[in-house]
Amino acid sequence: MPEIAMSARGVSHAYGVPGSASHVATLDDVSLDVRRGELLALIGPSGCGKTTLLNMFASLVRPLRGTIEVDGQPVTGPMPRKVAFVFQEHALFPWNTIRDNIGLALKFQGVAKPEAAERAAHALEAVGLADFADHFPGQLSGGMKQRASLARALSLDTEFILMDEPFAALDEQTRIVLGEDLSALLSRTRKTIVFVTHSLGEAVLLADRVAIFSARPGRITGIIDIDEPHPRRSQFATSEKFNRLRGDIFGLLHDEIRKSIDDSVHRRSGAAA
Ligand SMILES: Nc1ncnc2c1ncn2[C@@H]1O[C@H](COP(=O)(O)OP(=O)(O)OP(=O)(O)O)[C@@H](O)[C@H]1O
Ligand SMILES: [Mg+2]
Repeated sequence: MPEIAMSARGVSHAYGVPGSASHVATLDDVSLDVRRGELLALIGPSGCGKTTLLNMFASLVRPLRGTIEVDGQPVTGPMPRKVAFVFQEHALFPWNTIRDNIGLALKFQGVAKPEAAERAAHALEAVGLADFADHFPGQLSGGMKQRASLARALSLDTEFILMDEPFAALDEQTRIVLGEDLSALLSRTRKTIVFVTHSLGEAVLLADRVAIFSARPGRITGIIDIDEPHPRRSQFATSEKFNRLRGDIFGLLHDEIRKSIDDSVHRRSGAAA
């Protein structure tokens, strides 16, 4: 088994027609290795191409230049048995209960009904939603919907999971507690996970490494190792080490966020002129 689970090599990407107003360069020569069994966080200014890169690992978007590999193979199409995706929007079917939403995903994967029921119950337990299995998405809060969507991805039992801001709808305290649970869960399963976050604290609490992106078009400006064993407890979130690492990431991000804000102000004033 290759030590590198997923990789991007010299990946560039843009949306729209070159030379037209719709043209947006999103990624610029991004090379990144995801190691097997690690939790890699992607963090960077809004619009820098994080979701685009995640979509490439899921084969939902193709690079303009460069290559994407998953499990040592160039990506040629979706791999639902290998890669699960937790979308930035929760993407649950509103007309199905949470249990049935998970059941449906498992059915598509060809899992037999009794095993699907067992896996769904187990995954809902893991994210603290056992009592809400028979509720519909519309009856849950934003954070609960995100957790349901996470349960669905976990139930698929794929080796790789891609998560696009899975906890964005949660308050800071719930994030820490759920992060603790997730850290324990993941240290048992050794899954390979790439997740996008805007939260410095979440990146430090969960990740083994954090890749920091520049403002659009995204380039990787640094990778920070979070050298702390899993499972991580909430005490880690109040330690000096935690704050130091958080500060290191912020240091790399700050100028880029300033640049992306200035750029959008500049664009707006340009459009108004
Ligand atoms: N389907 C699309 N068609 C055209 N342009 C798009 C499309 N999706 C995204 N973009 C543009 O590409 C850029 C990168 O988008 P992407 O969603 O990858 O950013 P992101 O880093 O995930 O941002 P955020 O942190 O806000 O979620 C954005 O600036 C956006 O304008
Ligand atoms: Mg995004």
